[in-house]
Amino acid sequence: MTDTLERPSGEGPSEEHLTMGIDPWEKNWMKLSAGLLVVFAVLITIAGFAAGFQLPGAESEVDPRTVANEGPWAEPGLRDLGDGKFEAYVISQLWSFSPRELVVPIDAEVDLYVTSIDLQHGFKITDTNVNMQIVPGQVSVLTYTFDEVGEFPYICHEYCGEGHAAMFGVVNVVSESEFAEEVGA
Ligand code: CUA
Repeated sequence: MTDTLERPSGEGPSEEHLTMGIDPWEKNWMKLSAGLLVVFAVLITIAGFAAGFQLPGAESEVDPRTVANEGPWAEPGLRDLGDGKFEAYVISQLWSFSPRELVVPIDAEVDLYVTSIDLQHGFKITDTNVNMQIVPGQVSVLTYTFDEVGEFPYICHEYCGEGHAAMFGVVNVVSESEFAEEVGA
């Protein structure tokens, strides 16, 4: 037979079309889409509340013209707050970070305060979830606990001109004893 694609004579549109029935495949896609929304909502909730993911926020405002000369960024680097807590002040500028190296002891919980004195930069620490945009006049903050010994380079990931690729530094996570030596030295 060659006429299998033709509607048999005498029959109108199928029942399904008249009742605006939904194609089973389309129905499945709708279910899948709705299911994915639920999955994403659950994952975001877990990330935010159980896994401690944070959105980098604009903590406060500073004057980019003076921030390198007065206040905590005048001496960028790490501060020991006691109880395994630290603060790090980092300045971004064309085309470097100050400091270029942060030495922290293992399991240090570090509040990272980063700002820029010229234009927009990025601050991403490799192999961590620290990833911020750095806007002049604003302070970007994230807290991270370094629970692994090793070197974690931080890079500018916001294109900022010809020296962009050379704009990086490193977090050096060391053992307690090495850190004691470093601080004592
Ligand atoms: Cu700073 Cu790219």
